[in-house]
Amino acid sequence: MTTATTVMKQHLIDPEICIRCNTCEETCPIDAITHDSNNYVVDASICNDCMACVPPCPTGAIDNWIQVVSDNAYSIEEQFTWDELPEPQEAPEGAEVVEAKAPAAPTASEAQKEEGDQDLENKPFTAAGASIPPWSAAHPYTNLYTHKNPVTATVVGNYRVTDSDTDSDIHHIVLDMGDTPMPLLEGQSIAIFPAGEDENGRSYHARQYSIASPRDGERPGYNNLSITVKRVVEDHDGNPVKGVCSNYLCDLQKNDSVKLIGPYGNSFLMPNLPDSNLVMICTGTGAAPMRAMTEHCRRLNKEGKYRGKLMLFFGARSERELPYFGPLMNLPKDFIDINLALSRQADRPKKYVQDVIRERASDVLALINDSKTCIYVCGLKGMEEGVLAALKDIVTESGKKWEDVHAQLKTQGRLHFETY
Ligand code: FAD
Ligand code: A2P
Repeated sequence: MTTATTVMKQHLIDPEICIRCNTCEETCPIDAITHDSNNYVVDASICNDCMACVPPCPTGAIDNWIQVVSDNAYSIEEQFTWDELPEPQEAPEGAEVVEAKAPAAPTASEAQKEEGDQDLENKPFTAAGASIPPWSAAHPYTNLYTHKNPVTATVVGNYRVTDSDTDSDIHHIVLDMGDTPMPLLEGQSIAIFPAGEDENGRSYHARQYSIASPRDGERPGYNNLSITVKRVVEDHDGNPVKGVCSNYLCDLQKNDSVKLIGPYGNSFLMPNLPDSNLVMICTGTGAAPMRAMTEHCRRLNKEGKYRGKLMLFFGARSERELPYFGPLMNLPKDFIDINLALSRQADRPKKYVQDVIRERASDVLALINDSKTCIYVCGLKGMEEGVLAALKDIVTESGKKWEDVHAQLKTQGRLHFETY
């Protein structure tokens, strides 16, 4: 007996459009998505077409379903080598067309599948934060400029915002958009193409950066924006490496041109009400969206149009390695409640943001209990777990069930994470 050849749709990620933001890998409830230094890929032996990854993808690169013949599904190893998506495979005469997921790619390991199945039972299907914005948020524009129509900005400022004799080289970079419309909201991001090519002669893929300026521009009323960029000189394991895009950006000179796409982000957005409260929790360059939100409130406050509470938890190695330390400390105490968590400051005990959140438990709890409060977490991926644990303990000690409060914060668009 012969088995009929079938033709199916395989879920694939477009390497030309993907900005390697990790959102899909993070969202996938069954770990079907993985990456190497080149591409993000979907393992056909694990993916069950649940679609959880599709709405959060900022570019739409994940939303590709290419026709494949059942025996020729693409393995993850093949996908890692791609520069572009393949053409749909032609259906052999008499082949049965199945409107379902592609079969397991021949080279995908069974071991990975088993691991995926276990995760299905253990891993919660919900992410840590909300996927919807607060109800009063202004409506964001997204994907105005894509890989097919990138735009050019001009560098009008680039200066270091950490002390020059420290290891943390973080830059504040101001980009002028000229006549190109780039409507942005606090919490959104753009992606930048580093100049040059990799060792295989291919253009570098774009890297994502949070906007550090408020909606009316770095300079109010001008079509410009700012970003906060850390020069990557070592990888996450501490090995020396020269990060392609961050070094390119930190070395830019005034009047240089930069190619970019975006904007991205439709949930990490601030409430648009004069009496809303913001709890902002960040480490390092995670300060960028917090700077944007704080500056927006500061400008509103100057006109008597903002009267909510701002509470900031900011983690850095030391004061001298904390970006924007000077301007931040100059903000009036009755405008923003600043809490620094310094991990390597001489003569001070090591502290992470989650430690300081616990120290301020009663004030944090009061804000969580106020429906006008939104919580934003941005910076190191590693902080997510510790911050959630601290929030959970604070809520639990007050006698409430964290699971209920957490679920409510998410469904009301009041708890947001952007970690990388
Ligand atoms: P690559 O050449 O891509 O990587 C070189 C090596 O360094 C790799 O091994 C890589 O794993 C490792 N590496 C990558 N990033 C880091 C890091 N941050 N620390 C240590 N090792 C690293 N970055 C900012 O500076 N400011 C921002 O506001 C910002 N916002 C972001 C927002 C989002 C949603 C996302 C997904 C990322 C954001 N990033 C931000 C990170 C940024 O997109 C780049 O990943 C970062 O600048 C490194 O790029 P690179 O080209 O220099 O390094
Ligand atoms: P550490 O001294 O342990 O590196 P960075 O300078 O690398 O961008 O980090 C910013 C701050 O975040 C540093 O103080 C760093 O402390 C701290 N940090 C590192 N890991 C975590 C974590 N898991 N949770 C919270 N903060 C962290």
